[in-house]
Amino acid sequence: MGWLCFFTIIAISCVSIAKTEHRPSAPDLDSLTRHLLVSAKEPEFLDWLKRVRRRIHEYPELAFQEHDTGRLIMSELDLLGIDYSWPVAKTGIVASVGSGVEPWFGLRADMDALPIQEMVEWEHKSKNKGKMHACGHDVHVTMLLGAAKLLHRRRHDLKGTVKLVFQPGEESHAGAYHMIKDGAVDNVRAIFGLHISPKLPTGTVGSRPGPILAGSARFQVEIKGKSGHAAHLRTTRDPVLTASFAILALQQLISREMNPLDPNVVSIGFVQAGHAANVIPETVTFGGTFRSMTNEGLSYLQQRIKQVIEAQVTVHQCTGTVDFFEEKMRPYPVTFNDESMYEHAKKVGESMVGKSNVVLVPMAMAAEDFSFYANKMAAAFFMIGTKNGTRKPTHGLHSPYLIIDEDVLPIGAAFHAAVAISYLDNHSVFKAQ
Ligand SMILES: *[C@@H]1O[C@H](CO)[C@@H](O)[C@H](O)[C@H]1NC(C)=O
Ligand SMILES: *[C@@H]1O[C@H](CO)[C@@H](O)[C@H](O)[C@H]1NC(C)=O
Repeated sequence: MGWLCFFTIIAISCVSIAKTEHRPSAPDLDSLTRHLLVSAKEPEFLDWLKRVRRRIHEYPELAFQEHDTGRLIMSELDLLGIDYSWPVAKTGIVASVGSGVEPWFGLRADMDALPIQEMVEWEHKSKNKGKMHACGHDVHVTMLLGAAKLLHRRRHDLKGTVKLVFQPGEESHAGAYHMIKDGAVDNVRAIFGLHISPKLPTGTVGSRPGPILAGSARFQVEIKGKSGHAAHLRTTRDPVLTASFAILALQQLISREMNPLDPNVVSIGFVQAGHAANVIPETVTFGGTFRSMTNEGLSYLQQRIKQVIEAQVTVHQCTGTVDFFEEKMRPYPVTFNDESMYEHAKKVGESMVGKSNVVLVPMAMAAEDFSFYANKMAAAFFMIGTKNGTRKPTHGLHSPYLIIDEDVLPIGAAFHAAVAISYLDNHSVFKAQ
């Protein structure tokens, strides 16, 4: 009885503390986004962003080799006085800013470059031969470091904790999968990511609710026949003809078995067969990619590709194997924007760059390993424009001629920070009713 009374008193006083505690009321969204953007555009801040981006751009590194990039990130975090874990998933870094308690919110940037020789002649051209940040990950890392700086300045006011996820190996290596496996986003409730878009003008952002990028996987087939003289067919089994039938049969999967209203892709990218016109080769190898806007579609295609090839191989009296590289190059699930996270980020974007500068982008059959986070928690993935309005349209992503308008850097940094701060404001455990 006494104890019950004691607990009752505690409970009542806790409730009244929670109700009467004088927390500064959450600043309204417009003033938050305005302040963040103004801070990030200050000449000193902007110069720092450009310096960081240019250094990363000059020394691009491929998937899971992001050692110099990681060192640069860590030295900037050290200068700011932000705690981090390293290595996560071999070369990744996870930093934390805020109260150290929940809710936890994630911001993510990918770090790896592409095996492309940069063809843009400029002062900060890639110095690593055959490697280039042609997918803007240099910009992604820099925008997240910018957000780190903005968030750190407000660390005492954050109503929760922001995890800054610098992940390796986005390009085909499923770095996000490995980050998740190594606990990078344990306890994280929701996550936000940005990708540059050379199609959108600087100062605009865009996304769409629901599926935005395809689930994607690849496969390789090896068909073994029986080689011999191309004129003595009784003693040979022709893997070239078998592969031809199989490749044609694969095309029927999309046209005859999938919903014509759902986007799906099966494409063969390479075929390797024999060398001579009068010889039936022993083996043929071919491979390709398949994509879908639903995870069910992706696994259906995988199962049917295997069946079709195995059946074709049997019909033609050859033998064969199909490899989906599930360990080495994990299939990427569909990148899916959670409706309420999408609405949240859209609202923040509209407040920051204006309603007319937040656009609805179309779905695309490209893939992105941000999808691994999106399949685990509420996520929103936004495109951010890098096309300089005064120049001709630049080349697209993965082009050796890609040029980025660096004016995107402060916008991306502020957008990241504003999405995180306002998420914490709206999901704080102390949130007044
Ligand atoms: C935060 O929550 C309030 C109240 O539910 C809502 O009106 C507001 O739009 C939310 N802010 C964002 C940025 O989602
Ligand atoms: C575009 O390029 C011009 C010239 O290089 C530059 O002055 C300007 O700041 C850039 N950004 C935008 C958004 O126009």
